[in-house]
Amino acid sequence: MNLPRLNLATLPTPIEALPNISATLGGIQLLVKRDDLTGLGGGGNKVRKLEFLTAEAQANGARMLVTTGAAQSNHCRQTAAAAARLGLECRLVLVKPEGGSSGGNLLLDSLFGVGITWCDKTSRDDTLRRVFDETWQDGRRPFLIPYGGSSPTGAAAYFHAFEEMLSQGVSPDVIVFASSSGGTQAGLALGAAAHGNRTRVLGISVDEPAPVLKETASRLAREAASRMRLAVELSSEDILVDDSYIGPGYGVLTSLERDAIRLFARREGLLLDPVYTGRAAGGLLDLARKGYFKQGEQVLFWHTGGTPALFASQYVNSLA
Ligand SMILES: Cc1ncc(COP(=O)(O)O)c(C=O)c1O
Repeated sequence: MNLPRLNLATLPTPIEALPNISATLGGIQLLVKRDDLTGLGGGGNKVRKLEFLTAEAQANGARMLVTTGAAQSNHCRQTAAAAARLGLECRLVLVKPEGGSSGGNLLLDSLFGVGITWCDKTSRDDTLRRVFDETWQDGRRPFLIPYGGSSPTGAAAYFHAFEEMLSQGVSPDVIVFASSSGGTQAGLALGAAAHGNRTRVLGISVDEPAPVLKETASRLAREAASRMRLAVELSSEDILVDDSYIGPGYGVLTSLERDAIRLFARREGLLLDPVYTGRAAGGLLDLARKGYFKQGEQVLFWHTGGTPALFASQYVNSLA
């Protein structure tokens, strides 16, 4: 059963070959799925989720979207753009980083006309609840979108994204991508399972230990399957996560991300971001060098967006 959906994204996103990087890796064929080109508000994976989440918001009579994330959250920026497109108010609860942040996604948030409430990490959930309750009491009909847009409804979007890839005639041996709140991974894994597809769906964890992410993604996949009436059962063992590239933690740029960003830029003219796709691509390159992929395998790097963060104050100087 298809869930209600609004049209926000430019789809299908292209699938392109990366011949120059493939040649340096020797023996694998590397492709990229360009979800950085989903269009709305600078693009990224959350635009797909927001097609379903905003339909849910509309069905609930919402006039405002409320969500939360890091100061440079791509999810928050895409939610802000979706609200602007749909004529809704938007309120973001953002975690203030040590050392501050400006530019990048924050600049775009302000262009999209959002209201921002700052908080620290430990009070994030309480602040979100308070903002929701206050705006509800004010009669502004807020709709709460969870962290990362990762509800079962948001995950359903990536079930459809997997089907979109199949409809483009591509069925790779492995899909590699950045995984964090688990919705993207849940949907892709569900897509593979529902189609009896043998593709390995490998999430490179950006911040969560593998056992936590496997649990979250499998729960989201089961709940999304039940909403869509798909007879598929996924357990945490079915979710492939590599958490060995988290390094010093969320958003901390190291040579892993810097080298990957430079390689993709210089060899393919393709932009990655410092927090998510830079880390996932760094992991992919390391796995390739260690021989994780078999000779001749087709490996699809699912680009989940995030490039506005390249222009955030904390990254600009360390990348130049
Ligand atoms: C650019 C980018 N890639 C990957 C992810 C991770 O997606 P998910 O939260 O569905 O695991 C995010 C989440 O914010 C993101 O912004």
